[in-house]
Amino acid sequence: MLQDFTAEPLRRSKFDGMTERLPQEKETSLVLLEQLDYYRARATEYDQWWLRQGRYDRGPALKAQWFAEASVVQTALVAFRPEGRILELACGTGIWTEQLLPFATELTAVDGSREMLAINAARLGLPMVRYIEADLFRWRPAAEERYDTIFFGFWLSHLPPERFAQFWNVVASWLAPRGRVFFVDSRYQETSTAVDHILPERSATVLQRRLNDRREFRVDKIFYERDELTRHLTELGWSFEIEETTNYFMYGMGYRMGREPDNA
Ligand SMILES: C[S@@+](CC[C@H](N)C(=O)[O-])C[C@H]1O[C@@H](n2cnc3c(N)ncnc32)[C@H](O)[C@@H]1O
Repeated sequence: MLQDFTAEPLRRSKFDGMTERLPQEKETSLVLLEQLDYYRARATEYDQWWLRQGRYDRGPALKAQWFAEASVVQTALVAFRPEGRILELACGTGIWTEQLLPFATELTAVDGSREMLAINAARLGLPMVRYIEADLFRWRPAAEERYDTIFFGFWLSHLPPERFAQFWNVVASWLAPRGRVFFVDSRYQETSTAVDHILPERSATVLQRRLNDRREFRVDKIFYERDELTRHLTELGWSFEIEETTNYFMYGMGYRMGREPDNA
């Protein structure tokens, strides 16, 4: 089932042709539009990144390392035991939707790219997932809807820093009492990305990405340090345990302070 929440699309024409420096917020919005365009165009080649194929193939040793580390995260997700009504944000092609499904009584998967959602639906082939096409900076669940588990894979690093607090506050408002969050994201590691991508300084927040056909797009990409991220989340009222694999991944499990889950 696919619901469309993009009835009021962001209008890019508004900023077309502007040559003067845009105020920060408008510039951020433009990069977010470009980022979504990038993922829409990349949908059919997206899994090459996860499977270490094509431009992401760094040779057998690094491929084996990647899969070993991915397996650490997958094991951690199973140990976390997602449960109940699960909401997956920026679900993409379904790499994680598939992992969440066995734990869910209901699974809602949101993404801004209908191309990604179509691949996700084809991968799972099950009608019980509710797919929602929506811009996550605008979408809100229906007023009464709350989720026991909220999951996002490789989404946090794509949030511009100035949207970070707002994002976590809305996630808190979507969680059921004693609800929990699990996320996984990238560590700063050159061999994680395509051979023709340049990994900029760690402090950069916008970087250039390329498709197989060499089209280029800007995306937000923030490489957090574990301690820094834990501190930010604590300041926003969350309790998080964040782990890192040897090279590639960072993953976190948490809940809102004052709304401790039964097993905390
Ligand atoms: C790095 S991919 C992660 C996909 C998936 N979670 C995974 O781990 O494979 C980022 C996802 O965010 C989606 N996305 C980008 N901008 C978005 C927006 N403004 N609203 C909703 N989804 C967006 C893209 O379509 C893409 O599927």
